[in-house]
Amino acid sequence: MLTSDVKTLRVVVLISGSGSNLQALIDGVASGELPIEITAVISNRPGVLGLSRAEEAGIPTLVLDHKGFASRADFDRELMRTIDAYNPGLIVLAGFMRILTPEFTRHYQGRMLNIHPSLLPKFQGLHTHQRAIDAGEITHGVTVHFVTAELDGGPAIVQAVVPVLAGDDAGLLAKRVQRQEHIIYPLAVKWFAQGKLRMLDGRAELNGELLPACGYQIEANQP
Ligand code: GAR
Repeated sequence: MLTSDVKTLRVVVLISGSGSNLQALIDGVASGELPIEITAVISNRPGVLGLSRAEEAGIPTLVLDHKGFASRADFDRELMRTIDAYNPGLIVLAGFMRILTPEFTRHYQGRMLNIHPSLLPKFQGLHTHQRAIDAGEITHGVTVHFVTAELDGGPAIVQAVVPVLAGDDAGLLAKRVQRQEHIIYPLAVKWFAQGKLRMLDGRAELNGELLPACGYQIEANQP
């Protein structure tokens, strides 16, 4: 049997819902594309589809329900303890719909990624697809970024740009964006796992070069 001496990066994935981005990472590992080991999937909501996806892939799962905690700080502290027990090199927020305390973001600075469905800094927060349509944008997209204390504000790593088409509603546009999410999130995680990507002085650096404020941009012209 062939053995590999390539070190695999230990990754903990945090979810709150359907976990389609988690699935893209699971598929990337299964195909040999991603040199990572997903050591745990943690959800703040019980019973979500993402947990079943992880179980199906044989990944340990945990539910840490935020409703059982008196404060955001208490929840985040317990979440940190839970994550750190897995000794991860990278934390991946994949549809983890929580505002994080500065203590939490500081603890994982430079080793925590998030995906946000807009071309940041445009449309931070919720309902990004409808807001892009209402604003009359002709392009929209998705950003993978390092997480800092600023909500949806850390340095961008990669963005995929999609067209907003006549007749789009939020659902159609979300689907177009999500297809790109499932491409660019594994890509960013792969760069990090390969040691090509790091956060330096509040900027993202890829292959030793500082990325522009919007990150590495990919134009996805096919709807
Ligand atoms: C994704 O579209 C992701 O961009 C978004 O949640 C969805 C999760 O889908 N994240 C945010 O809005 C974070 N601010 P998934 O559970 O199927 O991966």
